[in-house]
Amino acid sequence: MWMLGIETSCDETSVAVLRDDGTVTSNLIASQIARHQPFGGVVPEIASREHLQHLMPLMEQALSGAGVKLADLGAVSVTSGPGLIGALLVGVAAAQGLAYGLRIPLVPVNHLAGHAFSGYLQPEGPALPLPPRFLSLVVSGGHSSVYDVRKENGAATVTMLNRTRDDAAGEIFDKVAKVLGLSYPGGPHIDRLSQHGDPERFRFPIPQFKDDSADFSFSGLKATAIRVAREQGLANSAATESQELSDFCASFQKAIGDQILDRLTRLWTQGPECPAELCFAGGVAANNSLRARVAEWCAVRGVTPRIAQRRYCTDNAAMIAFAGLQKGRIEEMDADVTRVRAAGRMPLGVA
Ligand code: KG4
Ligand code: ZN
Repeated sequence: MWMLGIETSCDETSVAVLRDDGTVTSNLIASQIARHQPFGGVVPEIASREHLQHLMPLMEQALSGAGVKLADLGAVSVTSGPGLIGALLVGVAAAQGLAYGLRIPLVPVNHLAGHAFSGYLQPEGPALPLPPRFLSLVVSGGHSSVYDVRKENGAATVTMLNRTRDDAAGEIFDKVAKVLGLSYPGGPHIDRLSQHGDPERFRFPIPQFKDDSADFSFSGLKATAIRVAREQGLANSAATESQELSDFCASFQKAIGDQILDRLTRLWTQGPECPAELCFAGGVAANNSLRARVAEWCAVRGVTPRIAQRRYCTDNAAMIAFAGLQKGRIEEMDADVTRVRAAGRMPLGVA
C-alpha cells in the first residue's frame, strides 16, 4: 500500500511517496528560499504562487521516481495547518482533487505532528518502530515545543507539554543572523560560524518564569543578543567573518541550547514515568551543536535518541505522509475529502 504526502504550509513545496511501513520511496522538495531571500523572510503571496507552479510537476516526478502509478495509491496525506493560509490552500485543494478523483481517503495532517514523528524515518528502508510512548522536541522557525506522543490501538495521539510564549528558536536564529548581516535563513550560517567559536565568550542567562512554567521564551535572548552584537561592533560584520563573530555565534547558539535542555529536563521527569525515547526534529534540529548536545543529554539518562535525519528536519512531505500513517490503517481511513479544511491556526488534535 502506498501513501502520497503533500506539504505546502510555508516556503517549501514537497511531495513524497511512502510505503505503509514508512519506507520513503521518494521525497522531493522545491525550496523557495532564493525567491524570498531579497525580502529577508517569507512573503506569503510569493509562497502561494510558487506552490501553484511547482506542485503538479513535483507530484509527477515523485510518482515516476518511485515507480508508483496513481492507481497504486492507497491514500493521500496533506498538511492542513498551521501555516500560511494561501500556501496551505494550494496543497489541500490539490490533495482533495487527487483523492476524490482516485476515490481514496484524504488524511489531514497537522504540520507539527509531521515534525513530531520524523525522527523515526530512515534514509533507506522501513521507519523505526514507534514505542508506546516518547517525547518529541520540535524546534523550527515557527514553533518550539515538547510533545508527549502515545501510541494506542494502532493510532498515535500527540499532546503539547509546552510552547514558546513569544518567538520560536528558529525565528531568533534568523533575526539575530540578519542583524549580523547574514542571509536568510540565518540558522545554518550561525551553525557554521559557531564551529570555530568560543561558546563561553559571551554569557546569556536562561530565562525563568515566576510561575515556574516550563514554557520557552526566546525574545529576551533575541533582544540581548542584538544589543551585544551592536555594542561589540558586530552588526553587519558577516563579510569579514572575524573570530569575535564566531565567538558571538557560538555563545548565542549555546544559550538557545541551554534553555532547550533546561526545559526538556524539567518536562522529562513530569508524569508517572520517564519515557525511554526522545525524538528531536524541526528545522533547528539540523544544528550540529544542538544535535550533539541532545545526544549527550540522552546518553547521560539512558534514553534512546531519535534525532531526525537532516533531510527530514526542514519541511518535507515524507514526514507528513508518515504522520498520516500514524492515524490508523489506510484501509479503514475516512474517504470524505470535503471534511478536510485548511486552517492557518490549528491546535494539535484537530488534524
Ligand atoms: O522546520 P522548518 O523548515 O520550518 C518551519 O516549520 O518553521 O525550520 C526552519 C528554521 C529556520 O529558522 C532556520 O534558520 C532553521 O530552521 N535552521 C537552523 C539550521 N538549519 C535550519 N537553525 C540552526 N541551525 C541550523 N543548522
Ligand atoms: Zn516545519
